[in-house]
Amino acid sequence: MPLPALFQQALRVPVIGSPMFLVSFPPLVKALCKAGVVGTFPHVNARPSEQLDEWLADIAAELAAYRAAHPGAVVAPHGVNLVVHKSNPRYECDLDIVARHRVPFVITCLGHPGRVVDAVHGYGGTVFCDVTGAEHARKCIDAGVDGLICVGGGAGGHASAQSSFSLVREIRRFWPGCLVLGGAINDGWQVRAAEVLGADLAYVGTRFLATQESNAQPDYKQMVVDATVADLVYTDRLSGVYANFLRPSLQRHGIDVSQLPPKRPDMSTLADHGAKLWKDLWSAGHGVATIADIPRVATLVDRMVDEYAQACTLPPSAAIAP
Ligand SMILES: Cc1cc2nc3c(=O)[nH]c(=O)nc-3n(C[C@H](O)[C@H](O)[C@H](O)COP(=O)(O)O)c2cc1C
Repeated sequence: MPLPALFQQALRVPVIGSPMFLVSFPPLVKALCKAGVVGTFPHVNARPSEQLDEWLADIAAELAAYRAAHPGAVVAPHGVNLVVHKSNPRYECDLDIVARHRVPFVITCLGHPGRVVDAVHGYGGTVFCDVTGAEHARKCIDAGVDGLICVGGGAGGHASAQSSFSLVREIRRFWPGCLVLGGAINDGWQVRAAEVLGADLAYVGTRFLATQESNAQPDYKQMVVDATVADLVYTDRLSGVYANFLRPSLQRHGIDVSQLPPKRPDMSTLADHGAKLWKDLWSAGHGVATIADIPRVATLVDRMVDEYAQACTLPPSAAIAP
């Protein structure tokens, strides 16, 4: 399936390190790109907008210097995630900054990506849109995006209730372009499985949260390592949209989601518990089931590359009759 030119021969394994609020900061983005997978961050991690300007200059300069110093290395492109929602006051200003820096890769989420597509295509950049269902996917296709990212059930952050198996096949039926699959993908075997299902790239969040370079607090990383899927709560009562959260992080603040009002609570309700959403109440996906360490990004990506190579050589099932 068509991979945008930006990603051709530019990755060691077909993986995008997905943007994570308060987690993906420049050290993680740069480590991912240097390791050979796409590194991204949400624009709102840089506060205020002037900091976005500084981060983008810093990331581009460091990656350019690294490429020059390591001509044989596969250094992946970087990207920014823009929250395309009317309620986001920084959207217009930050889109201008992204365009000025000619950020090679932009991921939109939550709203209609039309303006972003125009602006980013204007300088030759690539735009993918994050979707959790087929209806949203059709709107993004109409807006002219270069790729779709389907985030299936069990993902960290805001996750679809639809299984990845179902979602990716449903979208593949009407979208022949570049398709990315996310949700509980941690290793090279799962990356290969995503390709077998029809995806071109895998979208990996929670696994990269538990790395040395991520901005998550040490306790948060350890909680991801210690957690099982039984420790996750899938609820819309914290952010107003269904997302997976680590129950032990809620318990630390005396929060029991079953006691919260339906849908998004007044933020003062959380403040009464001394907790801020995302900062103290932590999100992670079903990937926690197989995360057992907090490695450096380069070590983790090397491991993924090996697993992916092994998975690509798998013979057909022994159950198949000759
Ligand atoms: C802590 C956390 C924060 C996230 N923040 C964002 C965000 O700001 N913007 C966004 O588009 N997705 C966000 N996501 C979702 C990820 O980009 C991605 O869809 C998801 O992590 C993939 O599933 P996985 O975590 O199971 O690998 C977040 C996910 C996590 C775990």
